[in-house]
Amino acid sequence: MYNQDLFEAPTSRSSSPIFQQYLPLVTEIAKSPHSVKIWDIPYTIPQLSYLVHGDYRYYGKFPSVVAGQILEQIPRPTSNHYVLDNFCGSGTTLVEANLRGIKSYGIDISWLSVLASNVKARVNDTEEIKIELGKLVAWFEKNHTNYEAPSDNFSEKWFTKEASIDLKAIQDYLYKMPDGDVKDFLLIGYIGIVRRVSKAHDGEVRPHIKKEKRQRNVISAFSKKIQDMCKNHNEYKKLIGRNNISKCFLGDNTELPKQFSDNLCYLVISHPPYLNSFNYAPVYSLEYYWGKPFESFYTNNTIQLYKSEMKAHPASENIVESYFEHLKKCYTETYQAQPKGSYLAVVIGDCTRKGELIPVCQRTIQLITKIGYKLEEENYRTTHYGLGKYAYRHRADYHGDDKEKKDGILIFRK
Ligand SMILES: C[S@@+](CC[C@H](N)C(=O)[O-])C[C@H]1O[C@@H](n2cnc3c(N)ncnc32)[C@H](O)[C@@H]1O
Repeated sequence: MYNQDLFEAPTSRSSSPIFQQYLPLVTEIAKSPHSVKIWDIPYTIPQLSYLVHGDYRYYGKFPSVVAGQILEQIPRPTSNHYVLDNFCGSGTTLVEANLRGIKSYGIDISWLSVLASNVKARVNDTEEIKIELGKLVAWFEKNHTNYEAPSDNFSEKWFTKEASIDLKAIQDYLYKMPDGDVKDFLLIGYIGIVRRVSKAHDGEVRPHIKKEKRQRNVISAFSKKIQDMCKNHNEYKKLIGRNNISKCFLGDNTELPKQFSDNLCYLVISHPPYLNSFNYAPVYSLEYYWGKPFESFYTNNTIQLYKSEMKAHPASENIVESYFEHLKKCYTETYQAQPKGSYLAVVIGDCTRKGELIPVCQRTIQLITKIGYKLEEENYRTTHYGLGKYAYRHRADYHGDDKEKKDGILIFRK
C-alpha cells in the first residue's frame, strides 16, 4: 500500500501557468457509495491547444486538461513513480505529465501516434531544426520539378497533381535524411500538413472530398508548420525540466511489456477509441499513404496495425463484444503490472446504436471491478465544442439525464 507520508506536495496553482488555467470546473453531485462528479470544460479547442498540444492534428484526442486534471488530483508516491498511457494517441498525457515533472510512458499500436507523441513530448533542438528546414527548402526550390506525381487512384482522388509532386519531393528528401530527432520532427510536420494540402475537408474526422477547397502551396504550408511547431516547442521547453523522462513505445496494450511490472506505475491513464465512433487506421489513410516509406523503419516491421488495432466501428454485435474483450485483456494486464494502491483512470464514452443506448461506461465499470480494481470516482464531462457534424454526432455530453450517452472519466484503484 502507499505510504501517505511519501506523497509529494501537490503542485501549487498560485502562479497558474498556462497548463493550469483551463482545468475542468469540477462539481460533486454524489458522495456515496463512491464520488460522482461533473467535469465541465467550457473552453474552446484553441484555448486547449496550448504549447505543443496543437502540433499534430489528432482527431480522437481528449482535451489536454482531462489528462491535466487526473494528474493534478492523483498523488504520486515518489519521483521514481510514473504514469503510463496505454492508448497514448498523440501523447497528450505525456505532455501534461512533463509539464508537471512527472515521468511518463505511453504505448500505441500506430507508429504515427508513437512518433507524434515522442516529437511533442521530448526536448527538441529547434535551432538545428530550423537550419535543416532551410536546407530542405533550398533543395526543394531547385529539385522539386524533377519529380512526378504518383499515378495511383488514391493519390489522384485525394490530391491535385501539383500537391502530389511537391509531397513526393519532400518525402524523398526526408527519407534520405539521417535518422534522428530532427528528421522525426520534420516528418511529423510533413505528415501534419497532408490533410491541409489534400482535397479533403480539414475539419471532418473521416476524409471527405471538399469540392471548393482552396489549394495550399505545399512547401510554404510545410515551412510555416515547422516554424509554428518550433515556436510552440520553445514555449513548452521553458516550462519543463531538461531531465524529464517521457517515451512512447510501439506496442499492443493487450500484451504489456514486462518493463511496466516494476511496481512503479502509480497511475494508468487510458483513453480507448470510442465505440461506434471510428477506427483510426482509415481516418488517417491520407497520412499513412504519404508516411508509407517510413513505416518499416518506425515499426521495425513488428506491428500489423490493421490486425492489432482495437476495433470500435461500426458497433455491430461482434465488434461490441470484441471491444469489451479488448478492454478486459488490457486492464487485466495493467492490473497485473501495477502495485497495490495505484490508480487507473479510464476516459471512455457511451454510444448509441440504431437509436439505442449502449451503456459503455457502466459496462466498463463492471468489467474493471471484476478484474479486481475498486471504483473510486465516477466523473462525467461536458464539453462545449465539436469538430464538425461527424464529431457532433458522436459527442457524448452529460446534462443530467441518465438515458443520454455520457462521456466518463472513471477512476479506479487497485
Ligand atoms: C482515443 S485515442 C487516444 C488519444 C489520446 N488520449 C490523445 O489525446 O491523443 C486511442 C488510441 O488507441 C490506439 N490503439 C488502438 N488499438 C490499440 C492497441 N491494441 N494497443 C495500443 N494502442 C491502441 C489508437 O491507435 C489510438 O491512437
